[in-house]
Amino acid sequence: MDTPPFTLKARDFGPDFKWGVAVAAAQNEGAWNQDGRGPSIWDVFSRRQGKVKNGHRPTIACDFYHRYKDDLMLVKALGFKVFRFSISWSRVLPEGTGKVNKEGLQFYHNLIDECLALGIEPWITLYHWDLPQALEKQGGWTSHLINRWFNRFATLCAEEFGDRVKHWIVLNEPMGFTSLGYMLGKHAPGRTGLSNFLPAVHHAALAQADGGRILRDSVKKAHIGTSFSCSEVLPYTDSTLDIQAANRMDILLNRLFIEPALGKGFPDEGMQLLEKLRLHNTTWKYTNRYAFDFDFIGLQHYFPVVIRHNSFIPIIQASEVKPVTRKVPHTAMKWEVNPNAFYHILKKFWKYGAVKEIIVTENGAAYHDQLKDGVVNDVERISYFQQYIQAMMRAKKEGVNVKGYLAWSLMDNFEWAEGYQARFGLVHVDFKTQLRTIKNSGYWFRSFLGGHSG
Ligand code: BGC
Repeated sequence: MDTPPFTLKARDFGPDFKWGVAVAAAQNEGAWNQDGRGPSIWDVFSRRQGKVKNGHRPTIACDFYHRYKDDLMLVKALGFKVFRFSISWSRVLPEGTGKVNKEGLQFYHNLIDECLALGIEPWITLYHWDLPQALEKQGGWTSHLINRWFNRFATLCAEEFGDRVKHWIVLNEPMGFTSLGYMLGKHAPGRTGLSNFLPAVHHAALAQADGGRILRDSVKKAHIGTSFSCSEVLPYTDSTLDIQAANRMDILLNRLFIEPALGKGFPDEGMQLLEKLRLHNTTWKYTNRYAFDFDFIGLQHYFPVVIRHNSFIPIIQASEVKPVTRKVPHTAMKWEVNPNAFYHILKKFWKYGAVKEIIVTENGAAYHDQLKDGVVNDVERISYFQQYIQAMMRAKKEGVNVKGYLAWSLMDNFEWAEGYQARFGLVHVDFKTQLRTIKNSGYWFRSFLGGHSG
């Protein structure tokens, strides 16, 4: 795709625009059984044969638990002012509920203090997919008790960290963890089917709003959001069937969680699955409880999808026409590179009148990086970031109130079912030695951010 030469600087987005990097506990921390941490669903799931590529496990990951000071120095060296991380629930509450693990809390206290000492703003994600295994044993996200458990966890984090942390993201991509973990079985805990998916969706929609309320009550001057995955959805042809199929996919991928959060309840047009969800005996009376007045909506965008009608696929009757088939540019994950789709999805989410502010809480790309003579010359990733930042500027100029951009990710990490093979970092990690090497995309960011004081 032809894009104009890249001439932007971070300061063109304004002095209060937030530039940062994001990580997540299960993907970075390691130290899976140290200092009293309980196992999470990813520790258990990754032991099951064939679930994670190459049998990789998150037991050590980037060893961030022990190396966070050095890693924060990298954040600083690259010029980022925001560091987004998540709290490992089973590190602070090893059983998910009940007894608090003081050493686990201390780790996050230290991490937060270190960020502040370096002039980096800490942003906390409460839940980034690593449910305590002890709770999964009792039903996990399918149990109605999950909301009580989650509220306890949220209250603990708000009370412990809320004096110093003002920016909060309640859930990371509820569509991601409910569909991959409870419908398709591709992510932990590996459950499948509507009977797991529907209650998980209902409980996650409640948790995102309850979490917001808890933070509002306990954290003074909090800036509260929650993060949604989003993909522009395009029909493969202009046939009515393809258009309808794309519409169904749009409901699922983009609308399922934001609409209840904005007080609209679940979207239900023309889709058996969502009709079932609405009829699920508990949901009607919860429409108000699903809603919360978020200060910002976190958008996480990686790729668009092209959809065609497919009557062999139950319920949704739609399937994706993959980028490889369409012969369009794509990343090592085989995800389409298409900055226009990013522009369109920003516009689409902004059109929900009730959204006050958008922060791009994740965007980035995996490539087949090569470390040669101490250098990773990841030109494709640089071009990716340039194109996506340009698209974001276009949306901003047209009135979308986008106030921040957090690159995924600081460093290569445990990429869920892809293991360590998929590398998304601005910093290369040698997982045998834990040696970090700043990639050229990291240096590129440093010069892009140069002198930016926001
Ligand atoms: C998740 C990250 C993940 C990234 C790339 C997002 O859906 O929040 O944890 O690593 O996508 O797959």
